[in-house]
Amino acid sequence: MAPSVALDRSYLPRHIGIIMDGNGRWAQRKKQLRTQGHLEGLKTAKKIVKAASDLHIPFLTLYVFSTENWKRTAEEVGFIMGLVKQHLKAELDFYRENRIRIRHTGDPGGLPADIVRELREASEDTRSFDGLQVILALNYGGRDAIVRAVRGLLASLMDAPETAGPTDFIENSINEARLRQNLDNPDIPDPDLIIRTAGEYRISNFLLWEGAYAEYYFSDILWPDWTEGDLYAAIATYQQRERRFGGGKP
Ligand code: FPP
Repeated sequence: MAPSVALDRSYLPRHIGIIMDGNGRWAQRKKQLRTQGHLEGLKTAKKIVKAASDLHIPFLTLYVFSTENWKRTAEEVGFIMGLVKQHLKAELDFYRENRIRIRHTGDPGGLPADIVRELREASEDTRSFDGLQVILALNYGGRDAIVRAVRGLLASLMDAPETAGPTDFIENSINEARLRQNLDNPDIPDPDLIIRTAGEYRISNFLLWEGAYAEYYFSDILWPDWTEGDLYAAIATYQQRERRFGGGKP
């Protein structure tokens, strides 16, 4: 059953990003292992993916594992990677039934080969689906994404150098549009709404370029306790914001 919060269906965010925080604290409060918190966090992720899909939200980016998360213990890192792999294998039917497309953002170079393979297969398998696109941010860092985009842009320029003088060359060749073209998924629109759970008020290297004009929503609730109603409440708040993109008040 859909949550009771009333939403304006004609003004939904096209792209929502979520920093799913609080798995560890949830487990700690329940005197359980941190890994149990991640298991619960995964269940919540599936619930929120389904709710976003039912709302016909076009894009949802989930911050699963950052370029900084490698600092965690080998046991926790291994557990999260295993969870992602198992999830992609076990839930393919769920994604198919809901016509959800899986995509990846982040540096595949630093990920274990079996995870890269699983991500590639899930992406291939769901490529033709026209429903919600779920972008899994894995080995993702906003700064790293920008550095990789700059490298990609420079590499393409070296392949096809332009003929104008050096100043023109720099100004014409390096601009926002071209940098964007070299991000992981240039076809995906910028996030309209970025949510962070568990009472932290930080961006933690998430969608730095793309989130320039996102609306931010912070929730005190730990991610494993998040419900469809919390997603609706976040969207309802978004719908009350006045977005000006740097323009003046009308
Ligand atoms: C933050 O909690 C969460 C993570 C580091 C990511 C783990 C996310 C999942 C297991 C969900 C994966 C979803 C899909 C669809 C594959 P934390 O450990 O930082 O919590 P804490 O700040 O309370 O310690």
